[in-house]
Amino acid sequence: MNAISKSEDRRVAPAAASQPVIVRAEGLTKQVSTPDHELVIVNGATFAVGAGESVAIVGASGSGKSTLLGLLAGLDVPSSGRVWIDGEDLFALDEDGRARLRGRLVGFVFQSFQLLPALTALENVMLPLELAGQGDAASRAAGVLGQVGLADRVGHYPRQLSGGEQQRVAVARAFATEPKLLFADEPTGNLDSATGAQVIELLFGMNRDRGTTLVLVTHDEALAARCDRRIAISAGVVAA
Ligand SMILES: Nc1ncnc2c1ncn2[C@@H]1O[C@H](COP(=O)(O)OP(=O)(O)O)[C@@H](O)[C@H]1O
Ligand SMILES: [Mg+2]
Repeated sequence: MNAISKSEDRRVAPAAASQPVIVRAEGLTKQVSTPDHELVIVNGATFAVGAGESVAIVGASGSGKSTLLGLLAGLDVPSSGRVWIDGEDLFALDEDGRARLRGRLVGFVFQSFQLLPALTALENVMLPLELAGQGDAASRAAGVLGQVGLADRVGHYPRQLSGGEQQRVAVARAFATEPKLLFADEPTGNLDSATGAQVIELLFGMNRDRGTTLVLVTHDEALAARCDRRIAISAGVVAA
């Protein structure tokens, strides 16, 4: 942890006094130029998430939820503002540094699964383990696929799997490296309710059993209600 983030830790109150902060955003802003005007997609977002919390990011379609999540995970770069993950100043790192930090600390589940079509389920889950330099990637990946109930699907390609199975592979991939922090962008948005419920149980199971912090974008009210806390966003503005 560097000197700046230490001073920030003192200056900004944590999400909950008893928990260390794992994600902090300060003045986070994303602005894009369109042919006719400047569009502010995320506008000055400032908040913190405590380690082990589950937080729902809620808001109308187009309110900036996905953009905010991409910024928090360092998949996208802000126009201004800062993000700290586990005390590391995300945008003080270069792109490689952010990728390494993500590999070490962060998992991401997308609404559209985003599995690599040319790789089997096992190979998709092995990928982050190999990138993190873990030697026993195949056996660990097989173990995690077993935990999500897909032991008999390891050799299947994404196109050979149902939507729910694909999302469980994506969850296995996100959890394979045992990240401290999981971001999920409408993880059940493309699933029927029963299949979505299975995926949700996996996410909350990891939160309960391993203390994985969950930051979930959702407009599923039942899912938001299960989270410890919600962060509302409206037209790019996060309500504190
Ligand atoms: N790169 C971009 N260029 C222009 N507009 C964008 C870009 N990314 C997102 N937007 C717009 O910003 C708004 C918020 O998008 P998004 O974060 O995807 O919202 P949500 O996930 O809440 O539906 C939308 O109106 C979207 O069209
Ligand atoms: Mg979205």
